[in-house]
Amino acid sequence: MLAGRTVVLGVTGGIAAYKAVEVCRRLVDAGAHVAPVMTEGAERFVGRVTFDALASQPVQGSLFDGRDPIPHTRLGQEADVVLVCPATARLIGSYAAGISDDLLTATLLATRAPVLLCPAMHTEMWEHAAVQANIETLRRRGVQMVPPGVGPLAGGDLGAGRLAEPATIVAAVERILSPGDLAGLRILVSAGGTREPIDPVRVITNRSSGKQGYALATAAAERGAKVTLVTTVDRAEPPGVEIVRVGSAAEMQEAIVPGAAGYDVIIMAAAVADFRVSAPAEHKIRKSGGNLPALDLEPTHDFLVDLGRDKPEGQVLVGFAAETDDVIESARAKLARKGLDLIVANDVSAAGTGFEHDTNSVTILHAGGAEVQVPLSSKRAVADAVLDAVLRARS
Ligand code: CTP
Repeated sequence: MLAGRTVVLGVTGGIAAYKAVEVCRRLVDAGAHVAPVMTEGAERFVGRVTFDALASQPVQGSLFDGRDPIPHTRLGQEADVVLVCPATARLIGSYAAGISDDLLTATLLATRAPVLLCPAMHTEMWEHAAVQANIETLRRRGVQMVPPGVGPLAGGDLGAGRLAEPATIVAAVERILSPGDLAGLRILVSAGGTREPIDPVRVITNRSSGKQGYALATAAAERGAKVTLVTTVDRAEPPGVEIVRVGSAAEMQEAIVPGAAGYDVIIMAAAVADFRVSAPAEHKIRKSGGNLPALDLEPTHDFLVDLGRDKPEGQVLVGFAAETDDVIESARAKLARKGLDLIVANDVSAAGTGFEHDTNSVTILHAGGAEVQVPLSSKRAVADAVLDAVLRARS
């Protein structure tokens, strides 16, 4: 995957700069063309000559070294990926703010290649609100990260902020450069509980946090798919994913059904309300007067049934079933009734699973009868298992 690909390796001034030497060597061994760029700070920690000897071309460190009048744009254009290892708080701050005051920050602004940052710093700095806000800004822009680990830090301290291991960093570069097993697929994911108005200030909703839907969108995008996420909740946007915000079941239907035929895969992870108030009040319902309002409910339209009925040839349609009893039987009945290819059965009464948790345990049921059990795992791991099942359903 790395052979013949150009990696611009930015090294900034932190003690972990010495580990970038190992990263450089591993990248070169795997066949990559490594173009090292060192900041002034980096050169205080590691000698230029070390990278000169190991990398595929001499170190560049300045916008004005005379040899190349516009080194940042050339590096930016030649890069298949720009890797910054380690990335200090200063580099992260400058990049988030769009400041280009040295060759590396200028290259970061001048490139359209994917960027991978490997932050490393002391725990207090890593946890500082400013650093975390900058990380979040960059993530939202699609910058990828190899997060720091917990371990011994410079000066004998122990904590979060230690640079990830070189093997992990090289594997992340490989993943970015590999086309991904979902490349070429257009995938729509829905997430969150719908919000059905009672009056202009009140809604009926449910406990769905949207975490599983967001994990699905993130995983699908990282695996190369072109992803649209139709969501009722406002979580950190997964990089590279198109976001469509909706509130009610009717709005979600409107956002999904007209264009549904254009997707290869639709994953309905959203908890769509089954009932809504038949005539929401136009003005806020007051408690003065002592009368308790009675809410007249009517069923919402189950548009997953429409999607199943009108499913184009080759599309994979996935439903979710959050259940508290007869989990598998109920889910299998829904799979058949709604014309789905897969349903993800979720026992939301079990410990650590379902709504609001970061973990989940599910059973993935295929229309053909196969069942895949995913024991209690992170929502990301569950997402990957669902996407694996999608690939299986397509084959
Ligand atoms: N769903 C939908 N539109 C609705 C209700 C549900 O698209 N109005 C989708 C959900 O996104 C989910 C699947 O249908 O993927 C199953 O939802 P669920 O509420 O569990 O199924 P119901 O058929 O409503 O069954 P129940 O009687 O258990 O509520």
